[in-house]
Amino acid sequence: MTTSLDQQPVGQAIDGGEVTAPMTGRVRFLAAARRQPTDVTPVWFMRQAGRCLPEYRALRAKYDFLTVAKTPELAAEATLMPVTRFGVDGAVLFADIMLPLEGMGVPFRIEPNVGPVIDHPIRTAADVAALRVIAAEEATPYVLDALRLLRRELGERAALLGFSGAPFTLACYLVEGRSSREYPQTKALMYGAPDVWHQLMETLTEVVIRYLRAQVAAGAEAVQLFDSWLGLLGPPAYEAYVLPYSRRIFAALRDAAPTIHFSTGTVALLEQIASAGSDLVSVDWRLPLDEAWARIGPGQGIQGNLDSSLVLAPWEAVETGAKDVLRRAGGRRGHIFNLGHGILPQTPADTLTRLVEFVHGTSGSAARAG
Ligand code: CP3
Repeated sequence: MTTSLDQQPVGQAIDGGEVTAPMTGRVRFLAAARRQPTDVTPVWFMRQAGRCLPEYRALRAKYDFLTVAKTPELAAEATLMPVTRFGVDGAVLFADIMLPLEGMGVPFRIEPNVGPVIDHPIRTAADVAALRVIAAEEATPYVLDALRLLRRELGERAALLGFSGAPFTLACYLVEGRSSREYPQTKALMYGAPDVWHQLMETLTEVVIRYLRAQVAAGAEAVQLFDSWLGLLGPPAYEAYVLPYSRRIFAALRDAAPTIHFSTGTVALLEQIASAGSDLVSVDWRLPLDEAWARIGPGQGIQGNLDSSLVLAPWEAVETGAKDVLRRAGGRRGHIFNLGHGILPQTPADTLTRLVEFVHGTSGSAARAG
């Protein structure tokens, strides 16, 4: 069933004032993404549509991963599961960072408990030159169809988030061919054949910009760039080999939708990451949230940053950790509550439901005043 957007009461964020009227999840999320006041702190979880949910495991017992991701009705079903169960304010499209690679001429598969595998990795100038850049509508029509379907089905419950892998993280899979701890071949290519590297990054940047802009046109209301393996780089390498491309991506989305820049293990790169120009910076638990925000500066919002493993602990520990995150955020505009990285598959779903209730229940201005 679809609900008309204007049938439901929506708390209005008044610039400069406290918000006391309740907001819908969608309005709350988008207000925080634009650093406007919210009634309470919005929450979502990375990898929320996944194996911690019994209903997702039941869906996966019937269809393999790529069938779910490439069938708009199934992808929409998986996307909505955590919205219904956890009451999160953001619905992240069920998809994978690898999907656009197929349209570039790079076949891959997802192996259970291994992750993405590419049988013929990209390692030479000729491999890079052979990569194709085609329209996102042609490469990943199912992603865009799923977004169109979801925007109608979500109504005011939650904002719809699109995402893409960042060029560096995609390059890690393209060059290495599979998940790795150190991505040594990728870094060897980067340092040893910079011309090939830059050509690869140019191509990926173009694909990512087209992909994210097409997602926004199809209904994504905010987008996250996943640079999951950025923590492998030190500041000079980040500056020389990655940052210019991230800057180009965020600049290309500035007029389209709010952007979130995700990475993990990047305490050493925080100011540089912020300078890439996203609206929000996603930080993990390795730095307290207030310290991270002080380093990023007041001009950008922040997403995070509860330890993804803390939600495996008994509730009392989770509550203490969540309170600490909220205290450090201090009710400032532009905080979106999340874990520092994705939900681990063994996470008890009930803890996450309770965590969303707790964040919503304790972060409002009334709760802060009391
Ligand atoms: O709920 C959501 O966050 C949306 C769905 C989503 C998936 N992958 C589904 C998925 C998102 C946002 C991703 C992003 C993604 N994919 C990233 C960046 C996020 C991060 O955690 O840093 C990365 C690095 C990948 C690559 C990838 N795909 C990995 C490492 C794996 C997991 C391998 C494993 O089995 O542990 C995948 C497969 C994958 N993507 C699964 C899901 C739910 C599990 C596969 C399954 O259900 O069988």
